[in-house]
Amino acid sequence: MCGIVGHIGSMNSIQVVLQGLSKLEYRGYDSAGVSYIDHSGNLFNQKKEGKLVNLEKLLGKDLPQTNICIGHTRWATHGEVNDVNSHPHSFGSISLVHNGIIENANEIKKELREKGYEFKSQTDTESFLGLMIINMKEGLSFSDAVRASFKRVKGHSAFVVLCKETKEIIAVKRGAPLVCGMHETDSNVMVSSDPYALVGLVDKLYFPEDEVFCTLSGAQTNLITFAEFDGTPSKRYLSTKQNLSADASEKGDFEHFMLKEIHEQPGLIRALTQYYIGGDGEASLEDVSSIKPERLILSACGTAAYAAYCARDIIENENRIPCVVELGSEFRYRDPILSKGDVALFISQSGETADTLASQGLCKQKGIKTVSIVNVMGSTLYRDCDHNLLIRAGVEIGVASTKAFTQQVLTSKLLSFTLKGHLKNAQERKALIDRFDLLASRIESLLQNQDVIKKIAEEIYNYKGYFYTGRGTYYPIALEGALKLKEIAYVHAEGYAAGELKHGPIALIDENMVNIAIIGPELHEKVLSNAEEIKSRKGIIVALADVNDEEAKGMCRYHVPLKFDGLGDLSPIYVNVANQLLAYYMAKFKGTDIDKPRNLAKSVTVE
Ligand code: G6P
Repeated sequence: MCGIVGHIGSMNSIQVVLQGLSKLEYRGYDSAGVSYIDHSGNLFNQKKEGKLVNLEKLLGKDLPQTNICIGHTRWATHGEVNDVNSHPHSFGSISLVHNGIIENANEIKKELREKGYEFKSQTDTESFLGLMIINMKEGLSFSDAVRASFKRVKGHSAFVVLCKETKEIIAVKRGAPLVCGMHETDSNVMVSSDPYALVGLVDKLYFPEDEVFCTLSGAQTNLITFAEFDGTPSKRYLSTKQNLSADASEKGDFEHFMLKEIHEQPGLIRALTQYYIGGDGEASLEDVSSIKPERLILSACGTAAYAAYCARDIIENENRIPCVVELGSEFRYRDPILSKGDVALFISQSGETADTLASQGLCKQKGIKTVSIVNVMGSTLYRDCDHNLLIRAGVEIGVASTKAFTQQVLTSKLLSFTLKGHLKNAQERKALIDRFDLLASRIESLLQNQDVIKKIAEEIYNYKGYFYTGRGTYYPIALEGALKLKEIAYVHAEGYAAGELKHGPIALIDENMVNIAIIGPELHEKVLSNAEEIKSRKGIIVALADVNDEEAKGMCRYHVPLKFDGLGDLSPIYVNVANQLLAYYMAKFKGTDIDKPRNLAKSVTVE
């Protein structure tokens, strides 16, 4: 959740680290800090509560010259948000940054206090610093001290430690994201919690496995070395070319990344079709065609979990394979009944969500085949699953997930199509390519007419509460619509199965409540009756209904005109884009920080 960046090389390291941190600010933004060694060999540590801009102000316009620096953006877990609790934590010749949770921090702290270490912060992280200091005081070298300290800490974490004496950075992780990078022609080496921070700076990436110690040094040879606990060289890392485009980090003409990402959807849908069934990526689909699940268990968190509900509906309807959805945070702590014929499918944008990873680990341990639908190639989920399908959404910066959801559901549709045995059937392929293209065109016209949604948003953004309702395959869309609104507009919104409203929540309906009613072709008459029930209790209804749906138009105060025909099981994705726009504009009228909503982090790497 926290962002980590480290650099050693010919460029000014502070500048590189700040640039990297600005890309990671979406992960967490309670505070930011850097530690660096200047050209006279002095170690400096500067950190500031609040967004990165506060740190930049503290550092001033003329950045110090340095070729070695580590930095951090924090999403607080232990200890309140203030300067002292900000990272890096530094003492003597050591500075370090951390992402994750040290579960046995209290026990370590007690022991360190007894040995005379005085804690300055309330963080769990400082227990690692204390271990480093005591270990080095007791005679261990820098690298041995990192190993010994890492051995003591429990829980999922990544640490990046800087040493003034050796002028090295050592990075290591257990169950948390970490990537190293190198520029092959110039001598710049980097480390980060996210490959995105390294875009444009390195051309080779190395994803270490758990408990591999990565040493970055300024020496001319062996700029990055990998070692096991016993110090022997390690080959447990995946190396790939860095191929993310630098454009992804620009907003272009859009006011927010979220809006930009909503607009990217038609292009991404077409590119996904082209990749998987129009050209190159077919191999990955052939790979999953060998999976013959007797039952599919889908697990994910947040928006990805709602994508999993959509995937369930698509796969179950098309293949008649029983599917169950399990929230990652619940599934991992249940004692689920799993059988041999089960296959587990994990959906994730980042591939680093702690609860999703733990669920995958549980299935793997029980001998169940695991498949991912994931955005980040090389992520932990990607590396740990038996089969992977990439959603190819590009970098998603807005914390509220939009384009990733669309690509996750569409990739599930491609999986469903493959399981059905349609991959080699030219006619079926053509029909699916056409339908994906129709979806892209319908989203394009929705985007062209988004002023209708903007006007409605302006009228309704100040009400007491919002119910999103839908039935059948639109029910997960109601849940996702409400989540989007809560995340960015900070208002109470709830997604409900329209038929369930009368079993309780209808008590809340009055003239101050808004119902965003998805009135699609499925169970049309029933959904209309549900809307009628709300209208009779003076609720304000916004109908997401077909342009020709006279009944819905007549009954509801507002109408977002949609065109459902021909979309079939892809229509929930289309309706969802209308909800994304509605949430976006309501948040804009409320004046919230849309791309970085309060308290949220893009990638939840702690439990
Ligand atoms: C966080 C994000 C959500 C995301 C969820 C799952 O809560 O704010 O947007 O849906 O994590 O993330 P994943 O990377 O696994 O899709």
